[in-house]
Order: sequence, then structure tokens, then C-alpha cells
Amino acid sequence: MNNFVFQNTTKLILGRGEIAKLAGLLPKDKRILVTFGGGSVKRNGVYDQVVAALEGFDYLEFWGIEPNPKVETLRKAVEVCKNENIGFLLAVGGGSTLDGTKLIAAAALIEEDAWELVLNPKLQRGSLPFASVMTLPATGSEMNRGCVISNLATGEKFAFYNTFPVFSILDPTTTFTLPRYQRACGLADTFIHVIEQYLTCVDESPLMDRWAEGVLQTVVEIAPKVLSDENDYDTMANFMLSATMGLNGFVAMGVTQDWSTHRIGHEITALCGTTHGQTLVMVLPGVMNELREQKGAKIVQYGERVWGITEGTTEERIDRTIAATEEFFRSLGLATRLSELGIGEDVVEEIVRRFRERGTRLGEQLNIDYAATDRILRQRI
Ligand code: NZQ
Ligand code: ZN
Repeated sequence: MNNFVFQNTTKLILGRGEIAKLAGLLPKDKRILVTFGGGSVKRNGVYDQVVAALEGFDYLEFWGIEPNPKVETLRKAVEVCKNENIGFLLAVGGGSTLDGTKLIAAAALIEEDAWELVLNPKLQRGSLPFASVMTLPATGSEMNRGCVISNLATGEKFAFYNTFPVFSILDPTTTFTLPRYQRACGLADTFIHVIEQYLTCVDESPLMDRWAEGVLQTVVEIAPKVLSDENDYDTMANFMLSATMGLNGFVAMGVTQDWSTHRIGHEITALCGTTHGQTLVMVLPGVMNELREQKGAKIVQYGERVWGITEGTTEERIDRTIAATEEFFRSLGLATRLSELGIGEDVVEEIVRRFRERGTRLGEQLNIDYAATDRILRQRI
């Protein structure tokens, strides 16, 4: 097991009707900026619950943080924070709303432009405190420090790390209005978060392995019910908790990670606007195949424990495990080939060009360079 320091300071509140708890959690002595996406919260009653809980608080609303939040939009909210003496931020919606809010909270305290902060985190001078009401299980943003910000003008998408949300409220009934596609993307994103913290080396931590496999198995088990329009409360509660546990540090203690699927996926989204979870499932089988030797022992363990693949030579087991993974993504109704979304060689070439120019090296052994990325993406067309 590698050395590690673990600290997660977010208070997590999950349950039916818990949005009402906002009244006891938000600061009374600070002006609050409540941030939203495009309006889903108005259609599912979440907005009304938030407004009811905020009665008597001093707050302003900021609308329009889009999926894959754009710095062009977030700059406007930074101005509001600076001009209106905002002291606390509350994000209400999906991961994009919260991610955008994390950048706003940090950019509000510096003179420099918000995108400069993304490119140069050393500019950060603390953060306004922020919290969330999360309505989409996927990113784990509700209990981690990360956010991923896009720049429309430059066609780039990069991660930035702030502090943790002070608290996050998850009411599973708020997910009942999620379209099937967003549910599928959320399941896929959760699954791949765990994979990227797990599918590296064997024997670092049997405990972390079992926790990671537990989340993976749960996602596979609940997926059909999540996708159905049953809206079973406990199923959606477990979906929410799986997403949170998938990326809040709990499965990552002391183990080697490999975020190459995400890093390549962000480039595809930056260039083509594809939804995050959908994008990842097109990339992961390629990464597994490219690193089949390096990751072989772990792929075999994953295949055995998650997909019940126990027979055949090592090579056959690796092939069957990659195939089972792709088949799972297809069972969610997602495309697993770039060409299915009209993405071709020109996009691959641009990503390879960027990685070459930046000297990007990904993977647990930093051996996914531009040439390996080229191989990975070409086999996924
Ligand atoms: O904008 P509104 O109108 O609210 O609608 C949203 C949006 O159109 C809608 N939605 C959200 N909750 C809903 C709902 N519709 C009906 N009922 C509900 N309860 O869903 C659409 C997608 O929302 P979005 O917030 O974009 O999705 P998600 O939560 O998957 O977030 C994706 C973003 O998070 C980043 C991704 O890169 C992407 O930019 N990620 C953030 C991470 C993190 N902070 O740690 C890690 C992830 O790997 C990921 O990269
Ligand atoms: Zn993700």
C-alpha cells in the first residue's frame, strides 16, 4: 500500500425531504448566491423546496450554468460575487452546476481571470465556502474537491481543484425526473471513476479492491432498475450513494490510479460537446486493450470478481473482460464507438496533436503518450 493522507470534510445528508435542512445549514450572516443550471430544478419541484427553505435568508440567484460548464458563463457569476458582497455559494442541480460553482468560489477572491486560475492554480487565494443540493448521481462532485471547466473560445476542458463542499444534500426523489440518457451517463461515469482508481496494479490493498469491486457490482446490479421508469426510491438512493462513494476518496486510499480515460474523454468533449459519461465509455475499452499487458493481472481479477469470468487463458480472459465491459455500456443504451456519434479521424488527430504539443503522459506508468493515445482512439472509431 502506498503512503496516503485522507481527509474529506463534506457533511453528506441523504434522504427524502432533506432539502428542508438547508435552513439550519446555511449561514444567516452572509449573503448567499444560489447557482442553477438550465431549469430542470424548476420542473421537478427542487427549486420550490430550496426557495421555501431559504425564507428569511439574504440571497441572490444565478441561472444558466450549462452542462460542461463554460468559463464564459462562470465569469458573470464571479462578477456578481465581487459586486454583491457574496459570502457563501449554494449550487442546486447536477455536477456541472456544482463544478462551475467551485470555480466561481475560488475566482471570486482573486483579481485575475477565472480561466487563468484554471491554467495556473497557484493564483488561488482561498475560496468562498460553498455547498450543494445535488440532483444527478454521476460526478461525485458533491463530496470531492474537483471541478472540470470548459472554455468555449479555445475549445479546451481542464480540471481544477478547490476545497470540499461544506455540505451536500442528496434527496433521491429529485432524480426521478432524470431522462434515461442522463441516468445511463451517470451509471457509466460512476463505474469508470471506480475503474480508474482500481484497474492498475494487484496486491496494493485487498480492502480497497473489495470496496471498489463492491461499488462496481452495485452499479451493475442496480442499472436495469435505474434505467426503468419505476423510480424505486431505494434503487435511486443506492445510485446516488454509489456515485458519491465512487469519487470521494474512499476507494482510492493507498492505491495507484490511472485517469487516462477521463483525460482523453475531456478532449473529445472539448472538441465535440459530447456528454461526459457517454464519452468515457467509447474510450475505456481502448485503454484496457492498449495496456492489456501492464494491467493484465488486475483485468483478470476484475473480470473474475465483477463479471464471473473464470476460465480460459489469460489472454482470453482479458479479451472477454473487455468485451463484458463494453457490453455493459451497450446495455445502458450508450454508443461505444466514436463513429456512432460521427466522430472520426480529424478529432483523433487534433487530440494527438494537443498531447504531443503538451508532452502529455498518462497511465499509471506514464506511458500513454500521444502515440499510444493515437492507437487507443483509432481502435475506437
Ligand atoms: O441544467 P439543468 O436544466 O439543471 O439540466 C441538467 C443538464 O441538462 C439535467 N439534470 C440535472 N438534474 C436533473 C436533470 N434533469 C432532470 N432531472 C434532474 N434531477 O441533466 C443535464 C446534465 O447535467 P450535468 O450537471 O451536466 O451532468 P453531470 O452531473 O453528469 O455533470 C457533468 C460534468 O461534471 C464533470 C464532467 O466533466 C461534466 O462537465 N465531472 C466532474 C467531476 C468532479 N467534479 O469530480 C468528475 C467527473 O469525472 C466529471 O468530469
Ligand atoms: Zn467522470
